[in-house]
Amino acid sequence: MVQVVLPNDANPLGFILGGTVMHLIDIAGAIACHRHTRTLLVTAAVDDLQFLHPITVGDLIILKARVTCAFTTSLEVQVDVFSEETLTGKRLLTSRAFLTFVAVDRDGGRVRVPPLLVETDDERRVCEEAKVRREARLQKKAATRKSEV
Ligand SMILES: CC(C)(COP(=O)(O)OP(=O)(O)OC[C@H]1O[C@@H](n2cnc3c(N)ncnc32)[C@H](O)[C@@H]1OP(=O)(O)O)[C@@H](O)C(=O)NCCC(=O)NCCS
Repeated sequence: MVQVVLPNDANPLGFILGGTVMHLIDIAGAIACHRHTRTLLVTAAVDDLQFLHPITVGDLIILKARVTCAFTTSLEVQVDVFSEETLTGKRLLTSRAFLTFVAVDRDGGRVRVPPLLVETDDERRVCEEAKVRREARLQKKAATRKSEV
């Protein structure tokens, strides 16, 4: 996804709002997952997010999303965010996000996701790393649930 950063997206310093970036990450991640599952989806988790460099009004914001691993009814997607200076083409990685989506039907029931074709060594490594993140996420979720009143 590519968009130009407009004044309406920015804070008083002329930098894109963090919330706007998060929204675009959610959308880009969802599109990649929808194209894999062709089901309804809900966002279950977004891992911690960092903003490494500002993206300024007039720059392009570029989001690249790829499904890293498909589980049973959920899947993980990686979204890399870049800034690109319109006049020079200089590009910087500004954020990297990992999101989990769950496939659901119209009644809220879970739906199995299609397996992901994992062919190259790089794809296998990426999927293995996703499994490790998934375990950590589920442990964190269980800990949060324990603290619910
Ligand atoms: C996300 C949600 C469907 C999970 O429901 P749940 O009953 O807690 O979870 P389930 O036991 O049914 O798990 C379903 C799948 O989601 C995964 N999952 C659930 N919560 C997760 C989390 N916090 N992080 C990562 N994966 C998670 C489970 O591992 C399981 O995956 P698998 O089938 O591939 O093994 C539910 O919490 C929900 O509807 N949350 C609100 C979603 C929402 O409103 N999002 C924003 C708008 S889209």
